[in-house]
Amino acid sequence: MKAEELVAITAQHVEKLFAGEGSGHDWWHIKRVWQNALSIARLENADLTVVQLGALLHDIADWKFNAGDEEAGPRAAKKWLQEHDAPEELMEKVCQIIREVTFKGAGVDTTPSTLEGKVVQDADRLDAIGAIGIGRAFAYGGHKGREMYHPGEEPRLHASFEEYKKNQGATLNHFYEKLFLLKDRFSTAAGRQLAQQRHAYMEQFVEQFLQEWHGEETPPA
Ligand code: ADP
Ligand code: NI
Repeated sequence: MKAEELVAITAQHVEKLFAGEGSGHDWWHIKRVWQNALSIARLENADLTVVQLGALLHDIADWKFNAGDEEAGPRAAKKWLQEHDAPEELMEKVCQIIREVTFKGAGVDTTPSTLEGKVVQDADRLDAIGAIGIGRAFAYGGHKGREMYHPGEEPRLHASFEEYKKNQGATLNHFYEKLFLLKDRFSTAAGRQLAQQRHAYMEQFVEQFLQEWHGEETPPA
């Protein structure tokens, strides 16, 4: 099977799996990551097949929420690629991307080991910030039954993935615990550049949110 064909049927497969997901891991997230990853990959001269398959399959295990099983993603991707006779080397590269893509807390360095991994991680992170990132954070928080904000609840800078996973509070804290940290953790030049504007927009959002919440808006003169 030609590489383009494998990418196309993988896209169809993932679209079917994720249709109607409401937790922030829907097909549209995957599609945006795929498109952003492809643009960044072209600028970085990364391998387009590896990047596209990595982007399409990066959240493959999340659709059924495999809590705590970090190999569930790579395993599901491997099974899919094996069924389509993908070369072993391609399969390994894609699985490695899936293993390395995730944010694991403020104190954990998760820089991917390959250029293609960096491209996919940057594309995934772009989708976690800016207007879309704000929307996804509140959608996720609602899905988990969390409060939007809780005055006096301090953000935590998690030192390990375990701590990060089990110790989360109101959605506004997620901005300090992950979203605001991302701008300094992009690996590609294009990713870093695109992140600036999205970051500034989120800062403005949180400032306005807190002003409204605490009755500190300045009335027009
Ligand atoms: P990604 O798909 O970017 O790897 P995750 O699987 O960690 O991200 O989370 C999916 C989406 O939900 C992201 O936009 C992320 O920022 C958001 N999210 C994750 N944890 C929380 C949380 N505790 N509160 C609010 N949003 C969250
Ligand atoms: Ni993702």
